[in-house]
Amino acid sequence: MHVVTIETETDFAGWRQAARTLAMNHVEPADIIWRFSGSDHDLLEELSAPRLPDPVEGTFNVPAKFVELAQTAILHRNPERFAILYRLLLRVRSNHDLLEIATDPDVAEVTAMARAVHRDEHKMQAFVRFREIGRERQARYVAWFEPEHHIVELAAPFFARRFADMPWSILTPDLCAHWDGSHVTFTPGVSKADAPSEDRLEEIWRRYYASIFNPARLKVKAMEKEMPRKYWRNLPEAGLIKPLIAGASQRTAEMIDQAATDPHKPQKRVETDMPRNTQTSADNLETLRDEATHCRACELWKQATQTVFGEGPANAQVMLIGEQPGDKEDLAGHPFVGPAGQMLDRALEEAGIDRKKTYVTNAVKHFKFVPRGKIRLHQKPGTPEIRACRPWYERELALLRPELVVAMGATAAQCVFGKLTQINKNRGRVIELADGVKALVTVHPSYLLRLPDEEAKTREYLRFVDDLRIAADFIRKAARAA
Ligand code: URA
Repeated sequence: MHVVTIETETDFAGWRQAARTLAMNHVEPADIIWRFSGSDHDLLEELSAPRLPDPVEGTFNVPAKFVELAQTAILHRNPERFAILYRLLLRVRSNHDLLEIATDPDVAEVTAMARAVHRDEHKMQAFVRFREIGRERQARYVAWFEPEHHIVELAAPFFARRFADMPWSILTPDLCAHWDGSHVTFTPGVSKADAPSEDRLEEIWRRYYASIFNPARLKVKAMEKEMPRKYWRNLPEAGLIKPLIAGASQRTAEMIDQAATDPHKPQKRVETDMPRNTQTSADNLETLRDEATHCRACELWKQATQTVFGEGPANAQVMLIGEQPGDKEDLAGHPFVGPAGQMLDRALEEAGIDRKKTYVTNAVKHFKFVPRGKIRLHQKPGTPEIRACRPWYERELALLRPELVVAMGATAAQCVFGKLTQINKNRGRVIELADGVKALVTVHPSYLLRLPDEEAKTREYLRFVDDLRIAADFIRKAARAA
């Protein structure tokens, strides 16, 4: 029996080094006791057990996917995780394709652990609330949070990016993270009693929450599910929920009265009426975009404000394709700048994809809607419109030659695959099309916005992020192979 002591609960490097030595010495999983420094254990038993075997010359390789998965799964609170990962390591070492077998019990367990860790990270991003401690120049923003897993180090870079210009500390029972404007540092965990009660920021949070609360989407039960009660005691806005619910129907009526845009007033038309031959062979995106401003291939141009063409660098490795511009995009002339765009931005960031490095476009490049009172109601484009617009996509594709096309939603999938394509059947893997294009299918971010049930919304959002992570992995591998 070998007793292996890992430095901390999240010491992946320590586990990796120990696991490598053990594997090289052919030590069986059943012959190892995994511990980490500071855990309670029987000192006598530890003293009498042999430590790590001596390092052996040589090395072995496992797929990069295993390393990524293990790095995340090790943050799970399951006390058996070091052992489970070691068992999987030995099996992956002799079968490099093992991780592709999703039904294998070890693969399934480690994948579920990694997912739970990402879910917890997402909850932390959503539920951390900073309170201001001190005044003016001495001000510091402090939050108390109780994560389910060991995610503080994983989540800290998100807060450093999001709240870059304020010094903050996130206190948790496991570990505390601190940001001074340039570096994140960590100190040991503290108890709830050490978390601050002073809260000048509380009022700001309450006002913010009241402003984003949408009474028309009110689903009390679902809201309680998404914001589990255990988080409520740390949320300043929790006290607002009751009065907001009480006033919801009146606010809904007010919202209906205040329209977004008025379809009866002609929107400012950005294009001229000059018809053009869309078959000219533009050799750069600028010229292509210019040509598309005059597209008359279907009727949609007549009521739309302008063509909303794709945007992004000409050397983008990923092309993201949506359905069609919405109300906000039609007015702004840019794709994905409205609510679906914000959802997309958040998911891309979580998946580790920089939107600025992607090319973002739509299957149909004019807004299709019907006027309803003062509102322009989105209409799903039909096959004739998707077909009419496809040459623009083909030409964007030919100029960009991206490594991967990510089709978001059924309309985008129909455009990319050239036929009706089911999302659920085809999502979650990269598919090579007959023309050599590599495509990944996923849902459209607006689908997530429309889900009425908050629990489903969270679940589907995480699946969306998982899909985007597949894109991120694919690009990383493509870059390595190049
Ligand atoms: N939905 C889309 O499909 N595209 C956009 O640009 C905005 C919303």
